[in-house]
Amino acid sequence: MRGNRAGQDTAASIVGAGHPRYHVARRDTLETQSPVFTPARIGTLVLRHRLIRAGCYEGLARDGNVTEELLEHHFQLARGGITMTTLGYCAVSADGRGFAHELWMRD
Ligand SMILES: Cc1cc2nc3c(=O)[nH]c(=O)nc-3n(C[C@H](O)[C@H](O)[C@H](O)COP(=O)(O)O)c2cc1C
Repeated sequence: MRGNRAGQDTAASIVGAGHPRYHVARRDTLETQSPVFTPARIGTLVLRHRLIRAGCYEGLARDGNVTEELLEHHFQLARGGITMTTLGYCAVSADGRGFAHELWMRD
């Protein structure tokens, strides 16, 4: 079979799928054709694509404060290509915290 009804090749039909350069070519196709890889705007902020890391509790804060481990976790996401990352469980008051070490935003 040369492709499916949407005109896209199935994995079994793609010539060269086993070639080391196949994954690069496939990624290029996705990045040029998918709306996920088009810029997005949030207010004045312009994101280069739409892959955003949702808030997930990392468990890397201590005593309500940011740690080097938490920073490194988010730096790794950025280095991996995420356009925006967000924090999970970040309380605006101490008594709003659900976990002992949960982030607490304060001066
Ligand atoms: C392990 C895990 C931890 C999460 N922690 C948080 C969190 O701390 N804060 C938050 O607002 N959402 C949290 N979420 C929810 C995610 O941000 C997201 O809204 C949810 O996974 C639904 O994503 P989806 O709409 O892409 O399916 C968590 C989700 C998972 C799976």
